[in-house]
Amino acid sequence: MKLRKIELANFRNYEKLELEFSKNIICFTGLNGQGKTNIVEAISVLGLLNSFRTSNYSDLLKFNTDYFFLKAFFQNSSKRDLEVKISYDKEIKKIMFQNKRILRFSEMWGKIPIVYLMPDESVITTGPPNARREFGDKLLSMVDAEYFSALNDYNTIVKHKNKVLFSLKGGETLNAEMISIYNSKIAELGTKLYIKRIAFLEIFTVYFKGILLKISDGLYKGEIRYETLMDEKNYFKSLHENLKKYQKDEIRRGTTLVGAHKDDLDFMIDSRSLRKFGSKGQHKLFLVALKLAEIEYIKSITDEYPIFILDDLYSEIDEKKSLQVAKILDNDIQTFITTSNSRIIDQLDKNSSQLFRIDNGVCEAV
Ligand SMILES: Nc1ncnc2c1ncn2[C@@H]1O[C@H](COP(=O)(O)OP(=O)(O)OP(=O)(O)O)[C@@H](O)[C@H]1O
Ligand SMILES: [Mg+2]
Repeated sequence: MKLRKIELANFRNYEKLELEFSKNIICFTGLNGQGKTNIVEAISVLGLLNSFRTSNYSDLLKFNTDYFFLKAFFQNSSKRDLEVKISYDKEIKKIMFQNKRILRFSEMWGKIPIVYLMPDESVITTGPPNARREFGDKLLSMVDAEYFSALNDYNTIVKHKNKVLFSLKGGETLNAEMISIYNSKIAELGTKLYIKRIAFLEIFTVYFKGILLKISDGLYKGEIRYETLMDEKNYFKSLHENLKKYQKDEIRRGTTLVGAHKDDLDFMIDSRSLRKFGSKGQHKLFLVALKLAEIEYIKSITDEYPIFILDDLYSEIDEKKSLQVAKILDNDIQTFITTSNSRIIDQLDKNSSQLFRIDNGVCEAV
C-alpha cells in the first residue's frame, strides 16, 4: 500500500497542507514541537480511523477552530486508487471510503494496513500484560475480520457479565442462570480467540525470530510464548471449569477473573524473560523486531505490504541499527520517518526518498 497524496485542513497545528508522495522513504525533519508527529498522526487517522495519541476527534481540531478535514489517496499493490475523506465538526464525524459513507469502524478495518512505531509503545515490552495482548489483538483484527468480530462479541459479553457481578456487591441477588449463559458464551468465544491466536503466533514468531537475529547482528534469540491459566490441550473445557472454579472469587471481586482476556504473551530473549531481565537496548530491539515482523505477517496474509510509520527514529534505535532496519525494509514498503536529528539527511538515498522540513505547522519539501 502506498500513500500518494494527503490533504489536511485545521488538523492539529496545520491550517492547510497538501503533500504528494512519489517515493518509498518519506522523511519529516524539524525541531521539537513543530508538527512532525502531527502529520504521521493524520496518516494513521486516515488509514485506521483512529489516532495513536487520542481517542477523541475533538483533540485533533486545530485550537480555536470548529471543523477539520482530511483526505488521502492511497494506491494498493494492484495500482487501484483508494480515496479516504474524513471531516469532523464537533457534532458530525463523516468518513467516506471510495465516496461511500462509512458508519462503523469495522467496515474500514484492514482496508488500509498501517504499522507504526511510536516512542511510547515501549509499553508493549515493558508494560503490563494488556499492552502485549492489545498488540496481538490489534494485529489479528487488522487481517482477520472473524477475529475482530469474535473479539468484540467476547468483550461485550465480559462487560455484561461484569456489570451483573458488580451489581451483586450492591446487594442484588445472584442470577445463576444468567451467569451460566455468560460463561458458556465466554468459553465458546474465548476458545475461538485462543485457537486463532495460536495459529497467528506460529507464523508470526518465525518472522520475528529471523528479524531479531538479523537486526541484532546474530546476537539475540527471541521467542514469544502464549501464557494462559487454561490447559492448552483442551482450552474450552478448561476455561469452562476455571470459570466455575473461580466463580466465588469473581462474585467477591465483582469482575470476570478468568478467560482469554487474561491470557498473556511472554517475550523471551535468549531463553529469559525480557520483562524481568532485558536491558533497555534489548527492549528497543525487541520492539523494532516485533513491528518489522508485523509488516511481514500482514504481507503474508493479505498480500499487501502495510505503510510503515517510524515516529522519532533515533529515540528507538541508534544509527547503526537503523541502517540494519533499512536493509530489512523491502524496497516496496513505503516508510514515513520523523526525526529531529538532521543527520538523517546525509543518509537518505535521494533516488528513493523525499525529505520535508517542518517549521511551526508549515511543511516544505527540501
Ligand atoms: N489540536 C491542536 N491544535 C493546534 N496545535 C496543536 C494541537 N495539538 C497539538 N498541537 C501543537 O502541535 C505541536 C506538536 O506537534 P508534534 O507532536 O507533531 O511535534 P513534533 O514535531 O513531532 O515534535 P517532537 O520532535 O518533540 O516529537 C505542539 O506545538 C502542540 O502545541
Ligand atoms: Mg514527535
